[in-house]
Amino acid sequence: MTVAIEKPALSSAAAKFLQKEHKLLIDGRWVAAKSGETFPVEDPATEETIAHVPGGDKADIDLAVAAARRAFETGPWSRISPGERSKIVWRLGDLLERYGDELAELEALDNGKPVTNARRGDVEGSIDMFHYMAGWATRLNGETIQVSSPGNWHAYTVREPVGVVGQIIPWNFPLMMAAWKLAPALAAGCTIVLKPAEQTPLTALRLGELVQEAGVPDGVVNIVTGFGETAGAALAEHPDVDKIAFTGSTEVGRLIVKASAGNLKRVSLELGGKSPAIVFPDADLDLAIVGTAAAIFYNQGQCCTAGSRLFAHKSVYDRIVSGVVEEAGKLKVGHGLDPTVNLGPLVSKEQHERVTGYIQAGHGEGAEVVVGGKTGNGHGYFVEPTVLAKTNRDMRVVREEIFGPVVCVQSFDDEDLDSVAKFANDTEYGLQASVWTRNLKVAHMMARKIKAGTICINTHNYGDPAWPFGGYKQSGWGREMGKEVMEHYTETKSVAARL
Ligand code: NAI
Ligand code: MG
Repeated sequence: MTVAIEKPALSSAAAKFLQKEHKLLIDGRWVAAKSGETFPVEDPATEETIAHVPGGDKADIDLAVAAARRAFETGPWSRISPGERSKIVWRLGDLLERYGDELAELEALDNGKPVTNARRGDVEGSIDMFHYMAGWATRLNGETIQVSSPGNWHAYTVREPVGVVGQIIPWNFPLMMAAWKLAPALAAGCTIVLKPAEQTPLTALRLGELVQEAGVPDGVVNIVTGFGETAGAALAEHPDVDKIAFTGSTEVGRLIVKASAGNLKRVSLELGGKSPAIVFPDADLDLAIVGTAAAIFYNQGQCCTAGSRLFAHKSVYDRIVSGVVEEAGKLKVGHGLDPTVNLGPLVSKEQHERVTGYIQAGHGEGAEVVVGGKTGNGHGYFVEPTVLAKTNRDMRVVREEIFGPVVCVQSFDDEDLDSVAKFANDTEYGLQASVWTRNLKVAHMMARKIKAGTICINTHNYGDPAWPFGGYKQSGWGREMGKEVMEHYTETKSVAARL
């Protein structure tokens, strides 16, 4: 495996941010962790330490939650006019646009992802999220309710912000996950404690500076860097947090649910996936090959929606496998800051061990490694794009989320759509599925039969701020984006007045 090792220089803006002494954002001030602890942040392509950030824990979470509570109860955020709130959320989108190149560089350096993808995907997606959600601030209407009780009544509902929200996010799309969480919560009038993933804290801290630049009042957004078991757990179980929004592993999702029981806080979860991509014989095969390859290799396969189970009809199976193998061969592997690179390293040593362990397990269980399987032979957590053929439903690589650039291919020969859907649904997850066909009836009948929160037809890893996103089964609770996410961040209050 050849890895393009040269690491292009950072822009002066990104370098300047990197050199700062990084702090926590609590109550509008940048402060060190109470314990004085810091931990290193790593460039996963070189394994070099690029920064240190505060190791926040329960003491810092307590301060951040107290600040968020004050800002919610007495501060201006839930009281300012929706129009003002909308403008501030919109402004955050504008600021992301202004500093987009710098943010993309920081993301590429911290997470390892190609800077070109970070700019077009992560940064643009985050800008769009703030701009879209800004509109919801002025659209959170209740209804008048037709009641039938005797007498004269005026009954109506109002939507109120849920209160103090804890948001725990992962490392695969660090900035975008922060945007997905912050934008709707701010639009609703909530106050927030955000805990970025320990692997990738940098863009959240830069975003904290933009939150201040945008004019978000002190205490409305608090950012605490730290580990899951300490800072994350303290936030999840905090008795004064009204709601937790979490994206990450299904395993930690369960812990969040348990931790929430103390005060029965509201919980929304975006968890793992093992998404099928199903190619029917009548599909536009060129499109399907490029699309199903991108479905698994984009972001080094570290997408919760990754198309990790590829089902091809037996009549097109060979063509699809050789096409995806060819696509894998086109990817230039190297340092994410190199704008010509298409595939960076995995985020961490832990993920590298996990993914290579799965490839070995697949091989051991009888899967054929058609291409890939190797790791980088120098520094960095690189894994080749890998295609495993001759896989079956009993293999761990087919059942468990690998979260790397590894696709398991299976063929089907059924004509009956129920049988095909059975393959797709043979998983504990249900986040996304893609169907590749030119036949409208097949496409929409499959959309009905598949148990997943999002269905893509002739595309995969689709997303739009207006398109509700989330999982069936063990892929999560609730939906982000669109109108539906506003349900998470508001309570409905029903009012009945005897006239
Ligand atoms: P994780 O679920 O441990 O981490 C996600 C976030 O949860 C991080 O901010 C972390 O600090 C926090 N966290 C961890 N333990 C916590 C706890 N006890 N209480 C509260 N917060 C806690 O995921 P991890 O370990 O980084 O990755 C493991 C696997 O999870 C991956 O291989 C992948 O399969 C899956 N994953 C799925 C993601 C998705 O987008 N659905 C994102 C990241 C990981
Ligand atoms: Mg973990």
